[in-house]
Amino acid sequence: MVKKNACIFISGYGSNLRSLILNSRNHSFPVNIKLVVCNNKNARGILLAKKNSIPYLIINTKKRNFENTILQEIKKKNISLICLAGYMKIISKRFIRNFGKKIINIHPSLLPKFKGLDTFKRILDKNEKKTGCSVHYVDEKLDSGKIILQKIFFIKKNDDIVSLKKKTQKLEHLAFSEAVVKIYRYN
Ligand code: GRF
Repeated sequence: MVKKNACIFISGYGSNLRSLILNSRNHSFPVNIKLVVCNNKNARGILLAKKNSIPYLIINTKKRNFENTILQEIKKKNISLICLAGYMKIISKRFIRNFGKKIINIHPSLLPKFKGLDTFKRILDKNEKKTGCSVHYVDEKLDSGKIILQKIFFIKKNDDIVSLKKKTQKLEHLAFSEAVVKIYRYN
């Protein structure tokens, strides 16, 4: 199998990046991670890129042309898939069009419920019975593209923001890689 090249966008801790890196070492995983893009120079995720000898690009989103900088690097590296793994910046329509290939995102709720930020607090406030995570294609609307897969768990009475986050992220670490496998299975 010829693997495709993937780029992971991050802003922070990078636990999803870590699980993608680990899974990408498997010869049957459909992508290799060739680039990490980060908009926060202090993100812990950058250390993971360094440790695993993955090239990384730290971008300054205050600069007007920062998306062009990313596009150039992505073209150089022949990237076919972008995974948004906790990237806290909205991708522009222009970027989506210019890249023209697959962009996927992971979100800590059962979309279409609870799009946007502060998900865990809102889930608890609404007394939801279950929650989980969603991996979806990125389109021009926030957290709205076609869902690739979801993982679900039931919320317990004593769950709080911390425990919900922990349980959700545990599922995310499986879901993201499963979604990558799924989208290449039929292509
Ligand atoms: C994840 O929970 C993801 O759902 C959200 O941002 C978080 C990133 O966590 N979009 P990490 O940086 O991968 O640990």
